[in-house]
Amino acid sequence: MNTLERAEAAEHALSQELDRLVIMKSTIYTSGERDPRVALPRPPSEGKRFLMGHDPRLPRMPEKPTLFDFYKLRFGPANHMLQSARLAQKNGVDEKIVLACLLHDIGIAGFIRGDHGYWAAQLVEPYVDEEVSWAIRYHQALRFFPDESVGYRYPELYTKLFGADYTPEPYIHEAYRFARAHKWYMTSRLVTVNDLYAFEPGVEVELEEFTDVVGRHFKQPKEGLGLDASPSSHMWRTIMWPTRYL
Ligand SMILES: [Fe+2]
Ligand SMILES: [Fe+2]
Repeated sequence: MNTLERAEAAEHALSQELDRLVIMKSTIYTSGERDPRVALPRPPSEGKRFLMGHDPRLPRMPEKPTLFDFYKLRFGPANHMLQSARLAQKNGVDEKIVLACLLHDIGIAGFIRGDHGYWAAQLVEPYVDEEVSWAIRYHQALRFFPDESVGYRYPELYTKLFGADYTPEPYIHEAYRFARAHKWYMTSRLVTVNDLYAFEPGVEVELEEFTDVVGRHFKQPKEGLGLDASPSSHMWRTIMWPTRYL
């Protein structure tokens, strides 16, 4: 057995212990690890039904989930975003930018890494000022391009992660050119200026520090995020119930 087969076997054993089977994974979870053109092996269901809601291996979400519930119960550690938001606050930027910093990497923290700026922008678009989601969308491209006027350099971390010879794809260059000429350029640029990884190492920032900022600038739907029929509700539901059969 290779690593993936071993992981699948362990998962199969685990899912046999649950009431419902959770063995049919979305292609995006496994593509690359396995060839997506090959049909997934379908283990015998042995009379069991498939999971169509809450996954018992995950903490249960409240009936009407808020943004903070997602941070606490479905996202990975959010210290990087919290530190960015705190730095933005310390730098005295507009509250909308503090919120953009707090949200800027939720794509990575809770959904999909690739094109994280675009995913994060879509997730929050129905609930924030257009300028905030715009800034989040374009921070991904702007991170690759310096702006000496605000002391922003190409991140050393990127050189380490991607190599000195890495050049972003043409669509990133195009997004940069578009954003550079836009009236909201500086909003997005300020997200990148506060987007640091080496800020106050070891310092944990509490989400509650931003309760007021979120309260003022994030339109929490009364039905709960994911249950409100906005254009991005389905994305929040997928984060809430990532292993549903359909
Ligand atoms: Fe980012
Ligand atoms: Fe970031």
